[in-house]
Amino acid sequence: MCGIVGYVGHREVTDFLVEGLHRLEYRGYDSAGVAVMQPDGLIAVRKKAGRVEALAGALESQPAGGSVGIGHTRWATHGPANDINAHPHVGGQGEVVLVHNGVIENYSQLRAQLQGLGYVFKSATDTEVVAHLVAHHLEEQVKLGGTIDDNKTYLRAVEASLRKLKGTYGLAILFRERPDMIIAARNGSPLVVGVGDNEHYIASDPSPLVGYTDQVVFLADHEIAVLTADRLDLRHRDTGRLSPSVQTLNQVSTEIEKGDFEHYMLKEIFEQPQTIENAMRGRFDEDEATAKFGGLNLTPQQLRRIDRIVLTACGTSWHAALVGEYLIEEFARVPVEVEYASELRYRNPPLSDRTAVFAITQSGETADTLAAMRECKRKGLPSLAICNTVGSTIAREADGGVYLHAGPEIGVASTKAFTSQVTVLALLALYFGRMRHLSFQAGKRLIGHLKAMPEVVSRTLECHESVKEVAQRYHEATNFLYLGRLYNFPVALEGALKLKEISYIHAEGYPAAEMKHGPIALIDEHTPSVFVVPRSGVYDKVISNMEEIRARKGPIIAIACEEDDNVAALADHVITVPSVDDYLQPIVTSIPLQLLAYEIALLRGCNVDRPRNLAKSVTVE
Ligand code: G6P
Repeated sequence: MCGIVGYVGHREVTDFLVEGLHRLEYRGYDSAGVAVMQPDGLIAVRKKAGRVEALAGALESQPAGGSVGIGHTRWATHGPANDINAHPHVGGQGEVVLVHNGVIENYSQLRAQLQGLGYVFKSATDTEVVAHLVAHHLEEQVKLGGTIDDNKTYLRAVEASLRKLKGTYGLAILFRERPDMIIAARNGSPLVVGVGDNEHYIASDPSPLVGYTDQVVFLADHEIAVLTADRLDLRHRDTGRLSPSVQTLNQVSTEIEKGDFEHYMLKEIFEQPQTIENAMRGRFDEDEATAKFGGLNLTPQQLRRIDRIVLTACGTSWHAALVGEYLIEEFARVPVEVEYASELRYRNPPLSDRTAVFAITQSGETADTLAAMRECKRKGLPSLAICNTVGSTIAREADGGVYLHAGPEIGVASTKAFTSQVTVLALLALYFGRMRHLSFQAGKRLIGHLKAMPEVVSRTLECHESVKEVAQRYHEATNFLYLGRLYNFPVALEGALKLKEISYIHAEGYPAAEMKHGPIALIDEHTPSVFVVPRSGVYDKVISNMEEIRARKGPIIAIACEEDDNVAALADHVITVPSVDDYLQPIVTSIPLQLLAYEIALLRGCNVDRPRNLAKSVTVE
């Protein structure tokens, strides 16, 4: 994981680096560091365990002024989160300094070889191997006659080093003898170059560039960029020099500000009426009572031939996929399988040319989801994506797909992306359904219900005050059970995940009836069960499951429809939500659970937006 920034130009670099690292902290926040070219010809390195804030403090007491530099925020893979393992790492005798995002799988062999050559390692990281390797090849290039003024000397050293690496990397490299240049390289970990006025930027994603430049070049795997203030040279490992394809970003900086909210997560929860609206905008064909998509890039004939759909994802996106399975099977009658991307990538399931694979991902950068999609592509299947981040690797590599248009999601615990994913999956269910058995009237009805969702979600958010009361009552519990059935089973999983992620309370999500086969053993008067029990086809069944918990003295928190006396009689606390048809309930019932996790985490003093050990974008497998 980890986040990278870099800059070469005329600005005071540490300001940009620190601000950029703040914006990238969602990718990891175990430690942070910068390296800045100094007027005396040395490279100043400042790094600190902990969040970017700690680095900013260190820079105040020990400034590192300059106008060329790189920075890094770390999610630890090799070696604990301490000052020494923090990036940047120094190669040779200080002639190379670099930051890295990814995992070098053959680092221990390379480390042994480099130690044999006399290189001394200070850290336990895989990254330091790359730093020494580049220093070693630089020395080799100089021995072969390369001069230190010639870019080619550095480029060849980097290329020779990259050839030896197995694994993934996004790299930004400084060279002591070339204080005007950064070399960046990508394989498997994203990098974007920002093009300014006599200045260039590098970053793991475009967020650090917002407010600085909207002109960007996304690097592809095996590309290397040589950046100076006035030049961007791009090369591909196999094809040599490339001409950069510059795109214009349309992100506005207010989208990544917190506004009046205390946390990004709360802001993102409250954005949902708008983000759901955005997911649907322009996607209804009222005349045909169906949905329309601009980017699926498959002909109606190809789409009609599809007789099986695989939805693959990780984390919260995987929970949205489970809702998608129910939606697509109900409305389109096409068999759907939901696969963890981390499993699918190494499995060899039978896939015919009539199978469509959808990768569902907020970030578009999750390593396992990307690998699963590539594996299916390799097998000749149309690969489609449901993705939020425009220009992300998955968005660019998919044959087609649907954007969520939810805007940047910064809180590590995903909220608005989930409801947007479910909305898009409902649109797809409608679309595939109308190509098959779904009647015009049924299509019209679904459109009507979907169009009402932004307003329904606004009303749902009114539950915030009652959620606060419940949080106050239960924030000291050590175990929670989340239970729901059919469409609300994935919601139970998602509710439990939210609580675990940000409050560190153990929570399990279960299909309500299945609870009898194990989790019920956990029930006592200290273990609350959260029942997701709006009126639905299985309402009575869930009520029976509530009775079973109540008989064992387990406290019950219910997410239920307004004026539900049955639930009120059984539950200790009821959080009410508007009533909607079963298949759209996840969009509504997930919201009080997002708020509950948020309020409990606040009361426990947890860092809501940056929970320990997690990262927003998991770019390692
Ligand atoms: C991480 C995040 C989760 C997210 C998951 C999948 O674990 O913390 O919030 O659901 O990755 O991410 P994606 O970007 O592929 O949806």
